[in-house]
Amino acid sequence: MIGRLSGNWHRRAAVKRQEPDLDDLFEPERPDCPESLLPFRDHPTYLALDDGTKARLRAWGWIAFNKNIQDIEQRVVNPGFALMATDTYRTGLGEAMALAVTQAMVDEQYHTLMHLNASAVTRRRRGWAMPDGALPLGHKARRHQERLRATSTPGLRELDLLAYTTVAEISINAYLDLVADDPEVQPINRVTADLHNRDEYCHSSIAAEVAKAAYGQLDAEHRKFFLAALADGMEAFAANDYTTWHRIVELTGVPGGRRMLQDVAESAQRRRLLQDFSGLHRLCGELEVLDELPFDWSTVSVGRPIT
Ligand SMILES: [Fe+2]
Ligand SMILES: [Fe+2]
Repeated sequence: MIGRLSGNWHRRAAVKRQEPDLDDLFEPERPDCPESLLPFRDHPTYLALDDGTKARLRAWGWIAFNKNIQDIEQRVVNPGFALMATDTYRTGLGEAMALAVTQAMVDEQYHTLMHLNASAVTRRRRGWAMPDGALPLGHKARRHQERLRATSTPGLRELDLLAYTTVAEISINAYLDLVADDPEVQPINRVTADLHNRDEYCHSSIAAEVAKAAYGQLDAEHRKFFLAALADGMEAFAANDYTTWHRIVELTGVPGGRRMLQDVAESAQRRRLLQDFSGLHRLCGELEVLDELPFDWSTVSVGRPIT
């Protein structure tokens, strides 16, 4: 499977295709991000805002979505793929895997560029500065950074990176779908998410194969560590990024914004941004660790039951 995917990369990869003209697809009256990305969408403070402020929050939501993806690709996924490419995890998958993950690193670099471009068009067409530098590191990349700092040995840090890369690559389709499947949202944003999505279907298959082969090489203690890191990654990837939203609400000057976010975070502790965990559920089923994994599957959707 890995050999087949690396063999047809030059025909299927986004980086090998003609770039769409993003400016042509911009429709000013459309919102920049789907309402489903706003954790406070039902809160009275948000509902009472004027249309201009709502539009700014939705534009910031899109900038933050793009930045979050770039932070993951640059700080989690590409470092993880780089370790796979040099066979750090002794998967025995050989040259085909090295080629596939090196191609995937090219894809990720290109996705980062695609999302940078998408934010640039939004800023230019809206005429709002909204600099990436005003936002904190995205929640998932930040959580991973904290874990690496707290992890004692290089070997365990490599396992942590494997776990977070696996979660990122198998859940990113569901994250991109939040934008790609929304019929109301700005078309260029949908096109960007859709184009990115196509590469990630392949990355998801590659990452699952590498994870299974690597897991097979681990002793009991390292398996336990890997599964704990995987579960932690799943929590991080499912969560709303409240640190970023606090900053956005502050930058936008929403009256009562801090209170609104506190209310939402308190009342909806178990309400996740990402719901669809079918890919990771399948992987854990294949690893036969569904019960062992310290994660509450009942809080997410897992697709069809495994037979
Ligand atoms: Fe990507
Ligand atoms: Fe990817």
